[in-house]
Amino acid sequence: MRKNYKELLEKDKMYIWHPYTQMKDYENDYHILIKSAKKFKLYDSENRYYYDTISSWWCNILGHNIKEINAAIIQQLENFEHTLFAGFTNEQAIELAEKLIKLVNSDEIDKVFFSDNGSTAVEVALKMSCQYWSNYGKPEKTKFIYLENSYHGDTIGTMSVSGTAQFFKYYKKICVENYSIPSPYCYRCNSSKSCKYQCLEPLKKILNDNHNKISGLIIEPLVQCAGGMIVYPAEYLNKLYEIIKYYEIHLILDEIAVGFGRTGKMFAFHYSDAIPDFICLSKAITNGTLPLGVTLTTNQIYDAFYDDYSKNKTFFHGHTFTGNPLSAAAANATIDLLISNNLIEKSQAQIKYLNNEIYSRFNNFQYIGDIRNIGFIAAFEIVKDKSAKEKFDSSLRIGRRIYFEGLKNNLILRPLDNIIYLFLPITITKRDIDIILNKLEVVLKNVISS
Ligand SMILES: Cc1ncc(COP(=O)(O)O)c(C=O)c1O
Repeated sequence: MRKNYKELLEKDKMYIWHPYTQMKDYENDYHILIKSAKKFKLYDSENRYYYDTISSWWCNILGHNIKEINAAIIQQLENFEHTLFAGFTNEQAIELAEKLIKLVNSDEIDKVFFSDNGSTAVEVALKMSCQYWSNYGKPEKTKFIYLENSYHGDTIGTMSVSGTAQFFKYYKKICVENYSIPSPYCYRCNSSKSCKYQCLEPLKKILNDNHNKISGLIIEPLVQCAGGMIVYPAEYLNKLYEIIKYYEIHLILDEIAVGFGRTGKMFAFHYSDAIPDFICLSKAITNGTLPLGVTLTTNQIYDAFYDDYSKNKTFFHGHTFTGNPLSAAAANATIDLLISNNLIEKSQAQIKYLNNEIYSRFNNFQYIGDIRNIGFIAAFEIVKDKSAKEKFDSSLRIGRRIYFEGLKNNLILRPLDNIIYLFLPITITKRDIDIILNKLEVVLKNVISS
């Protein structure tokens, strides 16, 4: 049997180009063929286990292989797998739309548009926002405001509103130019001790000078995830919202990574007073079982598209797998579990525990400059020199070394540059948190203290 797996891994190298991977590294690296998954662990072809400490790219929220979700998918599969979604509909999608509108619990949100991943959910919001203004008689409003260190996807449209420069430097030339504002990166902010949200001043200036051209502002509520798990105060979002509300531009909230309880509330924007015009969802919506993207919006937006066909106001957008009933069944089952078992409320004790433990164990760690935490997200910014906040030389590839040491210690620590993070399911137990943190201590000591 083992020989088979070795052959498979050889074929993988022969045929597959992996995402976000330097394939020259990969050729010589130890890599992993996953055979099964249960609760918080993945098991590989050598019967080793790994704590899924990054929730399989931030999708898994309840643990792996949840029987109720599997059963819902199978039951739907026995009825039918997929149909077109224009002129046709299905029970699962209708049920899900109704559930989501109740779940976001924002007075203004009334309509749901389905797609099939996070990037497409954002593309839909950008296109709807821009066409809204055209339909409304203001076609010059085509630009967006985004934050430095933000990430909203890998398509050309979403890269055009993302501020993670290191990912996009080769593609910026084919992107559309928009307006960027500073990131609320408190750890690396010079005025953080006398914070009066000076980082929002550029937003005021951009809006003052250009609001006639601006369609909307897109933001990841409370945590800029791919940009380095930058956790920022809800007050920042409130202030930002007050500023943009005055200029009547759309607020697009990208809850793709943080939705469904990860931050300790159902949605991260529930910590704030912001009222969104669009909410983008994906990832944990199906507990990571099947791909699904969702863009929620208001009746006000919807009404600007609603007219005689000859007026040419139709939203011309759709994806093959829009409204896919298997994905919708998985999402319905995921949401049912979250709600009927009160999982978010029950997870508060673990959140508190995780918060206490990370600070008490790692605060005095020589090479950890900053610890950031909200809900089940915990990030550790690794620095060479704490007082100067100086990073290690990139040629040392500290993150990569931590990743491999993590694997040896049953953890999946996929760093974001010099930031190591945990992105845990909300059903994680205190016992598992302890095991993970014990292992993390060993990994960090082995790599950076050596
Ligand atoms: C906040 C955020 N938005 C959008 C995306 C893009 O989602 P996808 O990879 O499904 O296209 C991601 C992916 O990590 C994300 O974290």
